[in-house]
Amino acid sequence: MFNLKTTTLFLAGSVLSLFSSVSAQDTQYPEPITLGILGYPHGHQLLAWSPTRTSMVDACNGYEKPTRTVIQVDNSGYPSNPICNHVFSLDGYEGLELLCAGNETLGTMPQVTAIATNGTQTHRCVELPYGNGFYSTPCDETHITSISQSFACQ
Ligand SMILES: *[C@@H]1O[C@H](CO)[C@@H](O)[C@H](O)[C@H]1NC(C)=O
Ligand SMILES: *[C@@H]1O[C@H](CO)[C@@H](O)[C@H](O)[C@H]1NC(C)=O
Repeated sequence: MFNLKTTTLFLAGSVLSLFSSVSAQDTQYPEPITLGILGYPHGHQLLAWSPTRTSMVDACNGYEKPTRTVIQVDNSGYPSNPICNHVFSLDGYEGLELLCAGNETLGTMPQVTAIATNGTQTHRCVELPYGNGFYSTPCDETHITSISQSFACQ
């Protein structure tokens, strides 16, 4: 009798936690996100990618990958859009945006502090030392394109 009761309670608890983890997944990207710069001779792009599921080289060359997305393209000094509060999607999760400290000057890297999903903060971002192009990793043997990590968000 005692055993039956605890088993029932245990099952009820498992079902509840199953439901809560499903709904949490619906409202936020459940993994860390890396922000980095892809550089090439006439410009650069700010990318967001999943570091657990996308290597640096895949982030470089992965135009078709859902776990890697372009937030801003800046070719020859013409930024496609602001970086802060610009809505993007990653890996099927929509409504993501970068939150920044201070005002953004278009064409420069703002201080990204967090990521929000549909208006709710879901990740905190930490700037990585030397991340803005100085110590970048070549994308391939040609060394024409390179990638560097600027912010780690989790
Ligand atoms: C954000 O809201 C949009 C529109 O309601 C919805 O389609 C999208 O799934 C939401 N994003 C997440 C990650 O839940
Ligand atoms: C940001 O811009 C607003 C409006 O232009 C201004 O009032 C505010 O002082 C600016 N903040 C910073 C940190 O520069």
